[in-house]
Amino acid sequence: MNVLPVSQESIQKGAKIIKSGGLVAFPTETVYGLGADAFNPMALAKVFEVKGRPRFDPLIVHIAAIETLEKVADLSRLSDDTRKKLFLLAQKFWPGPLSIILPKNEKIPDLATAGLSTAAIRFPDNEAAQKLIALSTGAVAAPSANPFGALSPTKAEHVRQGLGEKVDLILDGGAARIGVESTVLDISGESIKILRPGGTPREAIEEILQVSVDREHGADKSEYELLSPGMLKSHYAPHASLSVHTDKEIVQIPNEGSSCAFLFFDDKTKDEWFIKQNQKNALIFKVLSKTGNLTEAASNLFEMLHEIDESGAEKIFAQEAPNHGIGEAINDRLRRGAN
Ligand code: TXA
Ligand code: MG
Repeated sequence: MNVLPVSQESIQKGAKIIKSGGLVAFPTETVYGLGADAFNPMALAKVFEVKGRPRFDPLIVHIAAIETLEKVADLSRLSDDTRKKLFLLAQKFWPGPLSIILPKNEKIPDLATAGLSTAAIRFPDNEAAQKLIALSTGAVAAPSANPFGALSPTKAEHVRQGLGEKVDLILDGGAARIGVESTVLDISGESIKILRPGGTPREAIEEILQVSVDREHGADKSEYELLSPGMLKSHYAPHASLSVHTDKEIVQIPNEGSSCAFLFFDDKTKDEWFIKQNQKNALIFKVLSKTGNLTEAASNLFEMLHEIDESGAEKIFAQEAPNHGIGEAINDRLRRGAN
């Protein structure tokens, strides 16, 4: 069994494994990561192999001290203005669920960044993660610790089920606090762009930088899909087929309904929707947050989708969250999980 609860000893063991080129799954405040030494190409290659991840999809490099930034990024290639923005963001949001795209340091192998000249850098807000990173090489490349395209893991058990013995060690630090991945932010261009909505809300970034932050370039999203391949459609997908609806919508439910699952945003809309849909014999239904709290809803999202999958449901009807704050990330993951 390769799962150990987080402790000084297990973290030390994990750091040793990473230093010798192995893979350690570890908790972060967003989701569990599959960590490898960010400077070791052989270890990075294993990450892609174990996840079944295409090589064109770059990894996030995790650090545990702001001083490490210059070892993983090339700050000399930043304009003064971008450097200012970087430090404002780092000061406000690190450690935390924000990955910032920066010119990469030449010491970071091309494999980590899928050949891009930039790297996504993040300083996670989780003590075990920080210790693991600090005790290994200071920079740990880690995608979410799930098979490529599948639901993200918010518990050690999800990692064990998804990747099992392919990982040298899984550190169990309990349920991830935030439950959706970090916001991926590109600050290099004229306009600041969110490449993936996540745990740091757009509004908070706009407030700190005093600019508006783009998400969509017009109607065609394909440019985004190239900018951040994790934004490929069909990603974060459960096994059951998932469709996403507004609370106003009447959906066409299969006759007997017995293999259907419902994922509601809050109790209020659940009650209204449930009456409208007359779906009393659903196999399973879940509410992301009874009181409609977006933070709570985000922390339950992947966990509830995992539970629904385990129930054997074949079809999931999910309700959109209000599209602001971390609700943007919830809706993004639901839409990309839709199939
Ligand atoms: O919260 C998180 O970010 C978690 C935890 C483990 O830290 N990690 C995570 O990693 O979600 P992953 O690999 O599942 O998603 C990384 C995302 C992908 O969408 C990837 O395309 C994008 O970041 N990305 C990484 N490097 C990039 C770069 N240089 N330019 C654009 N997008 C990049
Ligand atoms: Mg992922």
